[in-house]
Amino acid sequence: MSIVGLDEVTLTTEDLGVARRFLEDFGLALASESEHELVFVARDRTGLRIRRVGDPSLPPGPVEGPNIRQAVWGVGDAAALERIAAELGKDREVRVSGGLVSSVDDDGLAIAFRLTQRVPLTNELPAVNVPGLPPQRKVNQTLDFDAPIRPNTFSHLVMYTPDLARIERFYVERLGFRITDRFTGMGVFMRAEGNPDHHQLFFIQRPPGKGLNHIAFHVRDMNEVMLAGKRLHAKGWASSWGPGRHIYGANVFWYFKSPFGGNIEYDADMDVVDDDWKPRETAPGPDTAAIWSTSYPPSAGH
Ligand SMILES: [Fe+2]
Repeated sequence: MSIVGLDEVTLTTEDLGVARRFLEDFGLALASESEHELVFVARDRTGLRIRRVGDPSLPPGPVEGPNIRQAVWGVGDAAALERIAAELGKDREVRVSGGLVSSVDDDGLAIAFRLTQRVPLTNELPAVNVPGLPPQRKVNQTLDFDAPIRPNTFSHLVMYTPDLARIERFYVERLGFRITDRFTGMGVFMRAEGNPDHHQLFFIQRPPGKGLNHIAFHVRDMNEVMLAGKRLHAKGWASSWGPGRHIYGANVFWYFKSPFGGNIEYDADMDVVDDDWKPRETAPGPDTAAIWSTSYPPSAGH
């Protein structure tokens, strides 16, 4: 299906002013602003659309209060958009308008698809000095600990589900996602066909059984996770888990509470895989959720 990843997620909040301050502090860039909407983007133009909880123009939300209202997936070409519209049109309403193919997943979440609007990223490799190797950071140079940190790209979306098997079938059989790993009876990681990152989606079958658990943005490297998290914490926003490093996906993480009804994560250095990857499975728990972290995971798990 040639889905390349999350282009945009629509979230709701009680207070657009608080949301604006939070996302500016998080490091995303304000792309547009009106009386009823904020759009924030990462370096590659993937990002978040923020509206008020009671906004009548949005698809219905999974739970009352701030939460997710739509996930927009970017696809690689127009043929893929047509294939997705035809596939979903077999058993559910599909609307096509302005280049956007809109429908719902099997949990009732509004999902949409468009030609991806992401732009290519440019980055320099982190300059790390390793014993026995020529210094990567030039002699007499040090690190710039004050450099601004902009999240690079949307990493993943994590949702609660009432039925893990059903939602797994939907994304795999209808949209071509690949399963990458599983927590037995609790969670499934999956990636889009056109994205090598270990996961762009993770579903958790635990109470409340619906709605947003968290979203994540990639920063460049572990150093940026630590610095960005330290800065966000210093501005008064509450950490919910981390910093730490996951085992499945191997991403370094730091989670914060957000004004959108779920957490938001900085992550970096996630595994990339292809179709030779063999999905693993293990019991969920603190020892399998992270190889190390500075705090125990919240009761919700990931
Ligand atoms: Fe995550």
